[in-house]
Amino acid sequence: MSYQNTEIAKAAEVLKKRLNELENKSDIIKDNELKALYARIPMLPDGERAAFGKEINTLKAELLELAGQDDEPHKKLEPIDVTAPFDINTEPDKRPRLLASDLGSKHPITSEIEILSDIAMRMGMEVVKSRQIDDDWHMFTSLNFPEEHPARDDYDTFITTEGLIAPAHTSTMQNRIISARKDRLATGQAISVLVPDRVFRNEDLDARHEHTFHQHEGVYVGTGVHVGQLLATLKTFLQEYFGKSLEIKTQPFYFPFTEPSFEFAVSCPFCSKQGCRVCGEGWIEILGCGLIHPNVLKMAGVDPTIYTGFAWGGGVERLVMIKHNIDDVRYFMSGKLDFLRQFA
Ligand code: DAH
Repeated sequence: MSYQNTEIAKAAEVLKKRLNELENKSDIIKDNELKALYARIPMLPDGERAAFGKEINTLKAELLELAGQDDEPHKKLEPIDVTAPFDINTEPDKRPRLLASDLGSKHPITSEIEILSDIAMRMGMEVVKSRQIDDDWHMFTSLNFPEEHPARDDYDTFITTEGLIAPAHTSTMQNRIISARKDRLATGQAISVLVPDRVFRNEDLDARHEHTFHQHEGVYVGTGVHVGQLLATLKTFLQEYFGKSLEIKTQPFYFPFTEPSFEFAVSCPFCSKQGCRVCGEGWIEILGCGLIHPNVLKMAGVDPTIYTGFAWGGGVERLVMIKHNIDDVRYFMSGKLDFLRQFA
């Protein structure tokens, strides 16, 4: 095997020599020389990472092969038809015992997203799915985060060495939503969309923080759009969801993709602002929102001197926890039946 990268080529020579001296040859992949190559990846410029990583993986596979151990054990398995139902590919005595399907039920987040989507559709919105792998441009640049801006760090985003990202908010969809529908604006129609979907963050986990959760994102673009419409829409949307009439409150905030930006709170649906276990002091902060920044519209191909819009984004788990008085966000991902059965 010959390696393009001189650093890897040199390491390959050293490692192959060492391999011959080892008693347990597969220990070669624990060698510091190899680990040092992997440690170099994050320090490389963006354009070089992928090729460098690929060559190290080739080297590792070559070393394992030399050590008499294939790095890809699945190669030794009989090929199967992956599109066939599992019972065709599995010996009868190895088949998992399945629960009867009538014992199953929808996950509470799925049901609550359906409720939120129904409300949005009754309010004339389209419902659009997000995606679970995205890129830096949709996560940040299209949302008016300047390059190197510290606000990028607020999102604890999972990023692969190749620069792919696991979206940390549903706002990644704003550019796609607006640009795909921009031609409607000239005919006098508005763009009005809800995106409820999964997002990911590299969080320290506790009762209020989970690495995988869901957001609902509202996007509206039309003419003469103002904050009053944003607040009225949100009030209606949340009153429908909680089945109660609510008071609302905003305070100024900063998001790069809205101007002005607000934190939005509702009066506690349980104690009518008296203060209780759910809300603490009567108000519950529920989402971020604002008028869509002109640069975000421009990047989606919409002229901000003619059209304006509002957007919001907040946690689905947060809404469900308030509605059902759930005190720990980690229950949702736990797969614990005694939790899930309560929503069956
Ligand atoms: N994406 C923001 C977050 O996850 C929430 C948000 C705030 C979304 C304001 C919006 C918005 O669309 O206008 O923190």
